[in-house]
Amino acid sequence: MDLIVRNAKLREKRILVDLAIKDGKFRSIKENITLEADREIDAKGNLVLPAFVESHVHLDSALTAGNPRFNKSGTLLEGIGLWSEYKKTFSKEDIKSKARETVQWLLANGVLKVRAHTDCSLPSLVTIEAMLELREELKDYVDLQVVAFPQDGIFAYEGMEDLLIRAVEMGVDVIGGMPQAELTREDGIRSIDFIFNLAEKHNLLIDIHTDETGDDHSRFLEVIAKYTIERKMAGKVTASHTTAMHNYDNDYAAKIISNVKRAGVNIVTNPFSNSLLQNRTDGYPRRRGHTRIDELIRAGVNLSIGNDNIMDPFNPLGKGSLLQAAHLLVHTAHLSSEEDMNLLFDMITYNGAKTLDELANYGIDENKQADFIILDARDEKEALRLTADCLYVIRKGEVLLQTEPAKRELFMDGSELVVDFK
Ligand code: FE2
Repeated sequence: MDLIVRNAKLREKRILVDLAIKDGKFRSIKENITLEADREIDAKGNLVLPAFVESHVHLDSALTAGNPRFNKSGTLLEGIGLWSEYKKTFSKEDIKSKARETVQWLLANGVLKVRAHTDCSLPSLVTIEAMLELREELKDYVDLQVVAFPQDGIFAYEGMEDLLIRAVEMGVDVIGGMPQAELTREDGIRSIDFIFNLAEKHNLLIDIHTDETGDDHSRFLEVIAKYTIERKMAGKVTASHTTAMHNYDNDYAAKIISNVKRAGVNIVTNPFSNSLLQNRTDGYPRRRGHTRIDELIRAGVNLSIGNDNIMDPFNPLGKGSLLQAAHLLVHTAHLSSEEDMNLLFDMITYNGAKTLDELANYGIDENKQADFIILDARDEKEALRLTADCLYVIRKGEVLLQTEPAKRELFMDGSELVVDFK
């Protein structure tokens, strides 16, 4: 074998197991493997998971916070305005170097699959060019999906539909959208029709920024569900954000959740940005801004989690940690039971792989690609509580990252104690 990881705690198993890997794939997963390997790693009973999946991030705007100014109001509208100003000034190399560094942060946080929404509203399309080049340059380290994202809508400004078509022809993986940015409800529906036609023509996936507002009249998810049913595209379509659903009346929300389930539309929630940007006009009581996570899960909808924005005009903070994003939902989405915490781990692993339509070769099973992580935690609850470090990130059976855990020595009562919060 090339690598054996011993004493691994898998989520679905009570006992510790060994993982034997050869030629980039899991070959054997069981107790006390007697084979020999070029390298052995002792997981010491820590949690071993398939690598995390980042289902929604904007790599083109990442690490630009403060350019040209910080977002003072904290609203999505001010964020879009700042981004519009800044995007007139940057070069392809600026975008690539920041995006490359952000991917390195994601890798260090255990992410090996990324869906990157990329603004395609610049006539030069340097953002798309930059991301397609990165997809190729980083392909040995990360599976990167590029979404052509019409940030300002498709019909609200002249020329946007041609830019989206050009971006698609350049070779993106997914077609994005922003129907709530159109001038009217009718134009929003027309933009969804345009996106589905383009996706069918090029056989591409769809991921639309959907109802990303607190406005409970924003109801494009119902249109996306209808198109997905009629075009028989179950599993190929994702609605990101759907934050307006938080504010819908309960009868309408129940209807739309049932239709989303029937259609097989994936939903991505983005806890950092949604809780920060939405419902800013509320005063008090102040609604929380994210979609109806518990109701969607209970209905059987595939729901995953994204970082969305990492140090940009929309979110001044962030370090690319999906565990930190999931941790936020324990509190703001009331997901605090043992079962809920397990679901949060599904959302940043298997559900994310399903959103990216890359479930077939994903997971810790014999003959699947050996992309996995070892967390500095014994179980899901501890991993969330500590937002645990990745001790190892392993890609195709090779160590891509290893971490030396922090050691805190406390000098008390004449002796030295080590504090590890466990
Ligand atoms: Fe987004």
